[in-house]
Amino acid sequence: MIVDKIRKAYDIEEKAVNSYVHALRVLKLQGMDMKDLEEVIKKVAIDTLIHKELMNGVLKAYEEALKKDKEVMKDIEGLRPSVSEKALMVKLLKDHLIIEAEMIEFYRNLAAGLQYPVLKDLAEALAKNEEEHHRLISDLIKKYEHQ
Ligand SMILES: [Fe+2]
Ligand SMILES: [Fe+2]
Repeated sequence: MIVDKIRKAYDIEEKAVNSYVHALRVLKLQGMDMKDLEEVIKKVAIDTLIHKELMNGVLKAYEEALKKDKEVMKDIEGLRPSVSEKALMVKLLKDHLIIEAEMIEFYRNLAAGLQYPVLKDLAEALAKNEEEHHRLISDLIKKYEHQ
């Protein structure tokens, strides 16, 4: 199952972090002057720590999303909006359009400020996801405004 794979990735990253930290300690203890080696291991260790924490978040997000996916669909099944409800929906969607536009900018800006490449890429991916939200909601507004 995919959830097991995410858990496995978390476990692998956790072991890798511990192993890199151990390696750094050994280097220090031996008092050897290997600055370049130390720098590289430190960088990889920090990236690995980020991977581990991201897998933790991905697991939580994935499980929550699957749960909500079912709940939300059960809630709205069979709903038939009236004309006034449709008008209200358009107003609601327009408010969300503003939020989505703000989030695109927000994540772009966040990406620019983040110092770790993997987190920078993640913020860029979220910005693209927000662009998709903006486009989807825009299309819905167009559809319901002309009904
Ligand atoms: Fe990794
Ligand atoms: Fe969004």
